[in-house]
Amino acid sequence: MYDINRIHDYVYKEFNIRLDAYKSVQMNRRIENFISKLEFNTTSDFIRECSIDKHLRENFLDLITINVTQFFRNSDIFFRLEELFKKYIPKRDVYRIWSSACSNGSEAYSVAMILENINMPNYEILATDIDKKMLNYAEKAIYTTYDLRNVSSEYIDKYFNFFNDKFKVKDFIRNKIEFIRHDLILDYFPSCFDLILCRNVVIYFTKDEKMKIYNKFYDSLNNNGVVFIGATENIYDYKQIGFNKLGTFFYQKVVK
Ligand SMILES: C[S@@+](CC[C@H](N)C(=O)[O-])C[C@H]1O[C@@H](n2cnc3c(N)ncnc32)[C@H](O)[C@@H]1O
Repeated sequence: MYDINRIHDYVYKEFNIRLDAYKSVQMNRRIENFISKLEFNTTSDFIRECSIDKHLRENFLDLITINVTQFFRNSDIFFRLEELFKKYIPKRDVYRIWSSACSNGSEAYSVAMILENINMPNYEILATDIDKKMLNYAEKAIYTTYDLRNVSSEYIDKYFNFFNDKFKVKDFIRNKIEFIRHDLILDYFPSCFDLILCRNVVIYFTKDEKMKIYNKFYDSLNNNGVVFIGATENIYDYKQIGFNKLGTFFYQKVVK
């Protein structure tokens, strides 16, 4: 009904996002539902309105990027990071961590809080996402009570300041994290990381793109560095890439 190729071209020109890297059936269905619910009759009408209506444009970008997140998402797995740093990641003067596709920053701040809590303040975190709006949110570091539903009262007391009915991450943690726009499909991958988190994003990508990304993560890691993936994900070809499986969601780089 809608000209999906034209919409892909529009998204690439407007947001610099390559939709052909995402699973097409899911993505195209979501786009078509979005447009038809708003009762646009043609692709041209929709694109024209997007260029005028900033709000519509933002909602459309939210639909494409799917930025649902949480502090300590799948907390039982998340807290295994303590063991990971104590047992598997080689000791360093400064640990380098990359929270890729970080959404509103909850994931990056969660890692930081865990490290602070086990007295390992010698770390720096790069947190990246394709969506600039989410990065602005993350940089502000201000969250609602609902956002903090997974955070213990002990952590809230230690790591947040309360003001105007909201919670702000304390500066000593905030200052350890750098937020930058980065596209896992199109951009160059930074390197020398001890831990890379890539959770709940590659599920939207085609198998080929996923493999490319995991291979690039291999190159981005220091020896014995670890990739931490989402709770519903799996790196099927991990041996071929050069990873050793440490646990269901942790893969360690083995030097080839
Ligand atoms: C479902 S959220 C996951 C957030 C967090 N990692 C977590 O597990 O809670 C997916 C995030 O991936 C980002 N994203 C989508 N496509 C991307 C791409 N090509 N490169 C980088 N980030 C992308 C979205 O903007 C969104 O913030």
